[in-house]
Amino acid sequence: MESPFKTDILKGKVALLTGGGSGIGFEMATQFGKHGASVAIMGRRKHILDSAVATLQSQGIQAIGLEGDVRKQEDANRVVESTVKHFGRLDILVNNAAGNFLVSAEDLSPNGFRTVLDIDSVGTFTMCHEALKYLKKGGPGKGPASGGTIVNISATLHYTASWYQIHVSAAKAAVDSLTRSLALEWGTDYDIRVNGIAPGPIGDTVGTRKLIPDEIKSKTREYMPLYKMGEKRDIAMAALYLASDAGKYINGTTIVVDGGLWLSRPRHLPKEAVKELSRVVEKRSREAPIGVPKSKL
Ligand code: HXC
Repeated sequence: MESPFKTDILKGKVALLTGGGSGIGFEMATQFGKHGASVAIMGRRKHILDSAVATLQSQGIQAIGLEGDVRKQEDANRVVESTVKHFGRLDILVNNAAGNFLVSAEDLSPNGFRTVLDIDSVGTFTMCHEALKYLKKGGPGKGPASGGTIVNISATLHYTASWYQIHVSAAKAAVDSLTRSLALEWGTDYDIRVNGIAPGPIGDTVGTRKLIPDEIKSKTREYMPLYKMGEKRDIAMAALYLASDAGKYINGTTIVVDGGLWLSRPRHLPKEAVKELSRVVEKRSREAPIGVPKSKL
């Protein structure tokens, strides 16, 4: 499918994406590459990275794979340093690595809770922390001409409350908070823009396979009328928008890319019924306004 963006919007830029070897992370790496960027992808599994890098390179994209776990500061540091050593600079950091599983709050161990916060929230902060010196305007001799940019992948489940996702809700709420705080501090001090993307259910991803088992898929539209599966490309296009000059005045925002799903509520009355009922209720309240006894009318 042809891109709505010009193919050189990230020309000369270097992007580092955590969890970039598969799923949404890999699609973002591909689209960044197709729009001119060189990409470094970070992940825990070598064979996944190797195959992802081979696919990227076969499309003419400058790409390297770097093994590492965002939970380990030494890994984060090594991966950032290796990216800059290989490509000479770092302009874009995408914090996409995440952990998830469905579990009731009652059955979740504190270590399970901590594990997801460690990956999603602490991991995001650690990567930002290690990348800062290269994302800074002019920093240390190799930084981008203006400040670089960060995109944090979040979710919408903490906007309200979500069943069996207490750990991820807490983790993503913290990610959104990091996005805003870093946008304020690093935007002001270093001209670094920090934004987020909150995807809805995206087809063909580990997240969706884990969270929406086949057993409940057919029921989903009953209680989520706006339910529609997104594509990995939808998230990649939002990331391109935020990471490129198209988004140069956007800072501290998390863009929801879910087709409006988080606003979904079951329809409690059919449209025709509401027309009828509404008139009846109006008439009734005109005849007997609240607080005015019928005898006084
Ligand atoms: C209950 C579980 C569990 C489960 C793990 N734990 N799986 N508890 N139900 N299904 C508990 C363990 O018992 C343990 O606690 C603790 O979590 C750590 O588990 P480990 O297996 O030791 O952790 P680790 O090997 O580091 O694996 C981390 C992981 C795993 C998060 C558990 O799933 C993972 O690596 N995921 C990465 C890939 C992934 O999930 N991607 C999907 C992202 S989707 P105890 O107490 O026993 O020691 C996504 C979408 C977000 O982010 C929102 C969309 C709406």
